[in-house]
Amino acid sequence: MDKKKYYITTPIYYPSGKWHLGHCYTTVCCDSIARFRRMKGEEVFFLTGTDEHGQKIEQKAKERNVTPQAYVDERVADVKKLWALLDVSYDKFIRTTDDYHVKAVQKIFKALYDKGDIYKGSYKGKYCTPCESFWTESQLVNGKCPDCGRDVIDAEEECYFFRLSKYQDRVKELLTTTDFLQPQSRVNEMVNNFINKGLDDLCVSRSTFKWGIPVTFDTKHVVYVWIDALSNYITALGYGEGGENYAKFWPADLHMVGKEIVRFHAIIWPAILMALDLPLPKKVYGHGWLLFGGDKMSKSKGNVVDPYVLSERYGIDSIRYYLLREIPFGADGNYNNEEFVTRINQDLVNDYGNLAKRTLAMSKQYFGGKAVKPAPDKRDEEFIATVDGAYAKASECIDKINVTKALESIFVAIDRANKYIDENKPWELNKNGKKERLNAVIYNLLEALRVTSTLLLPFITVSPKKVFAALGLDVPTSFDCINFGAVEEYRTGDIEVLFPRLDLKKELEELDEIARQLKEKENKMNDNATEKETVDTIEDISIDEFFRAKLKVGEVLACEKVEKADRLLKSTVKIGDEVRTIVSGIAKFYTPKELVGKKVVVVTNLIPRKIRGIESKGMLLCASEGEHGSADEKLTLIRPESDIDSGAEVC
Ligand code: MSP
Repeated sequence: MDKKKYYITTPIYYPSGKWHLGHCYTTVCCDSIARFRRMKGEEVFFLTGTDEHGQKIEQKAKERNVTPQAYVDERVADVKKLWALLDVSYDKFIRTTDDYHVKAVQKIFKALYDKGDIYKGSYKGKYCTPCESFWTESQLVNGKCPDCGRDVIDAEEECYFFRLSKYQDRVKELLTTTDFLQPQSRVNEMVNNFINKGLDDLCVSRSTFKWGIPVTFDTKHVVYVWIDALSNYITALGYGEGGENYAKFWPADLHMVGKEIVRFHAIIWPAILMALDLPLPKKVYGHGWLLFGGDKMSKSKGNVVDPYVLSERYGIDSIRYYLLREIPFGADGNYNNEEFVTRINQDLVNDYGNLAKRTLAMSKQYFGGKAVKPAPDKRDEEFIATVDGAYAKASECIDKINVTKALESIFVAIDRANKYIDENKPWELNKNGKKERLNAVIYNLLEALRVTSTLLLPFITVSPKKVFAALGLDVPTSFDCINFGAVEEYRTGDIEVLFPRLDLKKELEELDEIARQLKEKENKMNDNATEKETVDTIEDISIDEFFRAKLKVGEVLACEKVEKADRLLKSTVKIGDEVRTIVSGIAKFYTPKELVGKKVVVVTNLIPRKIRGIESKGMLLCASEGEHGSADEKLTLIRPESDIDSGAEVC
């Protein structure tokens, strides 16, 4: 019989920033689902990859003085290492710079153009000249460019549009009459916030940057973001090249994405597929965010969110388990070190680790590791039914795409088994010479350990394997023998401690220290990069270039030291009608008191920067002598020679 096929995808990630626990979240969730279904006997195709084109990548590469290709190659090598570390079992890794993808996207673009669903027009919007970026009115922050904070101008650019509006009704019907998009809350969001407001045609090409897939029939343009990115789900299967995997696996069973890109997957992607006359994916699931101090990105201080650091210290099972279990699937959840450590202690140390340790130790102690299948006993029926029922429950949760609940149902069986030890007190059975009952209890516990370890394999991939070695069994690759009682006889061995108990207080202190060191290292690297850039790029500039820096007079209204940072002062500075926070490395030269009331010169149009968790908007101009940061450095603020109002321009 043909195996059931299952095609699951993660988003393809931008290789432009640092890989963090947030990326691991989606990937590990998909990996668990893929592994679970493979063990059920399905033929799974699990796809992940990277979304490598666009202006941001082009800029990052330029900043580092390398080609965009060299830049993405390095970042992709990094993420592949991360997935290997976390035991991610993808079947294919697609890069949007892969040749076959580039060719297929060009064909898709042309097919849509030939059909009349892509047409040439002009894009009107707010344009930031230095960033070379178009923004919509609603994307602006206080009317300025959201990236650099500078003024924007009204501008128009020739580009190709995809006729999204044409598919509005069909997409609405898809979302409102099927369970294409989950959870349900996301459907309401899509319909109310986007579709009911009317879908505009979508700009799908750009001509102001080069790092993209060229439009074959108009090479001034490159394909812009979403047609390139979303098409990965079919090009990875060989769409357009007669790829056998396309025939086998499309339509996808599940596109798992973070909630912020649901719009692209639940509105734009179906519309593109409708235009191409292709079958639609069966489901899009928009999961919540793992937040770091309320932020989607891992900028929080104090919390170590570097997956390498965490896995080195606690092992990959702990990271995978935490990600899958802590955040109720579909909702947002906040990462913090305390909950991370507590979760490991409670579930992995106390529950699973303990069950393995106690069961195997008793098996060895009472029968030298031998246990045989006993005759059925009424007293054990409820216990066996609970353990036996875990597979069906977990499987149902995976069908409903609820990884958290699937794990919970396995832990119900683990908890029940731990309780079974306490109820049956094997040590008393041993003392009273009740060998037959003792054998039955030990066998039942070994079976519970086997069944739950089998079920845990898709979620945590290391420690269950150690359990199988100690049980004297091969690591199962399917759920075929998941039923209780499938093993006739056991010959068990020893097991090492699977998860050492963690001292919460000590761990929190050490994690704080690690976070501090990481931050310091990062700051140093940023400083070095900035310094290097300055040295590398000193050359004569025109007066116009000079005036791109907007210097204004500011008045320091308040000032204080930044906690745990010897060099830093945080000033509240009034510049005309505006009040800003500015962090400066001048605490060695000025006390906060000395600064209050002083008029200073501020560089007002610097990109805001977070320093020690404080967003600093601008820089106080100083003159300095001696090596920067050295003991004999001298530094003094540049100040107006006579009194002048704050907000006055320096010209
Ligand atoms: N390249 C696009 C996606 C194109 S898919 C055709 C993109 N890339 S991204 O690098 O920004 O990745 C976003 C995805 O990473 C989210 O949708 C989510 O799956 C995952 N996450 C990144 N940070 C996350 C959290 N803090 N929490 C949960 N998921 C997170 O958007």
